[in-house]
Amino acid sequence: AKIHEHEFVVEATPVKRLCKTHNSITVNGQYPGPTLEINNGDTLVVKVTNKARYNVTIHWHGVRQMRTGWADGPEFVTSVPDCPGGSYTYRFTVQGQEGTLWWHAHSSWLRATVYGALIIRPREGEPYPFPKPKRETPILLGEWWDANPIDVVRQATRTGGAPNVSDAYTINGQPGDLYKCSSKDTTIVPIHAGETNLLRVINAALNQPLFFTVANHKLTVVGADASYLKPFTTKVLILGPGQTTDVLITGDQPPSRYYMAARAYQSAQNAAFDNTTTTAILEYKSPNHHNKHSHHRAKGVKNKTKPIMPPLPAYNDTNAVTSFSKSFRSPRKVEVPTEIDQSLFFTVGLGIKKCPKNFGPKRCQGPINGTRFTASMNNVSFVLPNNVSILQAHHLGIPGVFTTDFPGKPPVKFDYTGNVSRSLWQPVPGTKAHKLEFGSRVQIVLQDTSIVTPENHPIHLHGYDFYIVAEGFGNFDPKKDTAKFNLVDPPLRNTVAVPVNGWAVIRFVADNPGAWLLHCHLDVHIGWGLATVLLVENGVGKLQSIEPPPVDLPLC
Ligand code: C2O
Repeated sequence: AKIHEHEFVVEATPVKRLCKTHNSITVNGQYPGPTLEINNGDTLVVKVTNKARYNVTIHWHGVRQMRTGWADGPEFVTSVPDCPGGSYTYRFTVQGQEGTLWWHAHSSWLRATVYGALIIRPREGEPYPFPKPKRETPILLGEWWDANPIDVVRQATRTGGAPNVSDAYTINGQPGDLYKCSSKDTTIVPIHAGETNLLRVINAALNQPLFFTVANHKLTVVGADASYLKPFTTKVLILGPGQTTDVLITGDQPPSRYYMAARAYQSAQNAAFDNTTTTAILEYKSPNHHNKHSHHRAKGVKNKTKPIMPPLPAYNDTNAVTSFSKSFRSPRKVEVPTEIDQSLFFTVGLGIKKCPKNFGPKRCQGPINGTRFTASMNNVSFVLPNNVSILQAHHLGIPGVFTTDFPGKPPVKFDYTGNVSRSLWQPVPGTKAHKLEFGSRVQIVLQDTSIVTPENHPIHLHGYDFYIVAEGFGNFDPKKDTAKFNLVDPPLRNTVAVPVNGWAVIRFVADNPGAWLLHCHLDVHIGWGLATVLLVENGVGKLQSIEPPPVDLPLC
């Protein structure tokens, strides 16, 4: 196994998109940031220096961080952020995960521009579980604002309203030629006739699940969130923010130019969203001229050829989403916990709170007059600590930073997806964690609520992969629904898209001690409190305990 050392300098960089330039926070001046490529079993050492005027942390999304929770990155959960001028070195080993993950800033909305791909290939000398593709291309789907994203979220916090939606989606940082001033920078993905390309698709958008498709080409899904899947073919992918999907695409169509396109899946009702379409171009290249044995005379495709546009599902096509996620299976029988020690039930949804008295009516732009938006799990609206991280407080025994009374089930049982009574709309703010004993077998039912609006929530758990054993619509019914659990070959993921007006059930073994954020990966919802922390205690002995904190752990 190798050790890969990298330096990340986080700094303001002028970036021009949609005819406008503004200073974006980038890593090493790149947007998106650098792609990291490693093999399973390798160690990453990344020194992050903060030259921006914001606090910064980097999260290695999906990396299990076995016993190295100090390197996980969410601000005030595992470390305090790097202040402007500070630096911190993240060290961790990637073990037993193969495929595509990514990294992103985990403070405020900085991840709008601070993100990049993390590619994990099989151990040196070991094959993929599918024929080796000729090429591999990371496809990072993102969102772009004409304004500084930090100003967008600050404005929303000030008024209590929903933040402005993005002005464009992007593929590898480029909006594509359906937007103004974007044609000459549109991302081109080359392919040769007959050859296969592994697309590593990542949804790095802040707030929007996205459909993704390629005109006239089939996509063979082989993995997601750095776990392999039983391959299946599809025309359209759907990815919630945070999720990744690896697909094989073969150059089996007449040489030409074909659009790859992504656009919103929007499940919330009466909510504004960016309904534009981002594109890249899959472009057939002429075969290798130096190959004497080639009898093909095919020419390269002229770059003036108008690309073929694929159809995309309607923005509210929940059926397309359901049938896609139903196709996910692990490649073989897996070890899902069958006995459960901790059976938890967490509601995920929005809420409202009253505006403070000193708030003028103009500033109160929540869903109902005199209110602000909020969100919760089990009626607790998560509030981050602001001077020390939960993991530090836990490890060093600092009192008063958080409590461990996050409820294992909702305080009241109600018709979650029905017409919800207003009295349930106001969550209680708190910094509450839920404790798990080392080694316990855990099940969590994640239940969407229709408070304010039902919505598809991409729920991400740090430090773990989990099996998604079932999902469905309406209220979860333990009697009826437990019988339908897939305990044979469910997919292993780190982010589950909880269906709109529905539920999903995940299972895992709590074998990684630390403080692990469980949250909605729509950034607007994290800010509103749709999160909690699972505090997994040390087991017996060194191998079941978190490592001591690194000496340069920032104390901003
Ligand atoms: Cu991808 Cu808590 O994040």
